[in-house]
Amino acid sequence: MYLNDADLARRLAVASEAVWEAGQLILSFYRRPQVLDIKSKGPQDLVTAADHAADALLQKRLAAAFPDDSFLTEESGGEGGRHLWVIDPIDGTGNFARGLPHFCISIAFCVDGRAQLGVIYAPIQDELFVARAGGGATCNGRTLSVSGAREPGRSLVDAGYSHRHPKSDYLVVIGRLLENGFGFSQAGSAALGLAYVADGRLDGYCEQDLFAWDVLAGLLLVREAGGWASDFPLADGPADGKPVLACTPALAADLRRLTGI
Ligand code: IPD
Ligand code: CA
Repeated sequence: MYLNDADLARRLAVASEAVWEAGQLILSFYRRPQVLDIKSKGPQDLVTAADHAADALLQKRLAAAFPDDSFLTEESGGEGGRHLWVIDPIDGTGNFARGLPHFCISIAFCVDGRAQLGVIYAPIQDELFVARAGGGATCNGRTLSVSGAREPGRSLVDAGYSHRHPKSDYLVVIGRLLENGFGFSQAGSAALGLAYVADGRLDGYCEQDLFAWDVLAGLLLVREAGGWASDFPLADGPADGKPVLACTPALAADLRRLTGI
């Protein structure tokens, strides 16, 4: 089935409502840490009852509206599909579980492996970031554009890390960033980090091993906000990890060299 503009607009509207509803649901867990039921999936990799509840709610809402679409989610897995929703019910679960406010819900809608829609909702800040391929990016209705950063000495890059990847590689990248004058942070949510690059709050985001659900929405946001973003082909295997870099166009050459991405 071919999807026209109206089909995509409907998906954007339903996804925007669904992330808001899921945001209120995860906030109800955030305010009652005793019901979080925190479990470990691996070193520094947590999942909570809120991740599962939001995952179920999002799939239910989207499947009810678009029964022929497919799903790939961090907590339920899934295969690829022509019309595919890629969902991270909470990105920044480590922060969420500790009561730190930097986390979000991230949803991308892909057609034939390319992200057409990106929706990221940060419930604590009540910020809804939305991008449509070729249609720009907004935060709560305000048009987004990346910062004008050109000089490392005035630039802040969030360099994410997961214990899936060798520590030595990470330390090399951090060392190179610092030696070349960049400021660096590691705030703990790839999706929200990318949204902040799209809004010019950060000048770049890099990480060596991320999954589609962490980044597809955020990479589209950065591109639609005029930034440079690495490619993330789903055809390689929908649940395979890949390196990710997104930044202002003027910093792309330097950051590609320093991160090797
Ligand atoms: C993690 C966050 C983190 C990144 C990790 C991801 P999760 O996702 O995006 O910032 O560094 O690589 O796994 O587990 O919070 O959904
Ligand atoms: Ca994630």
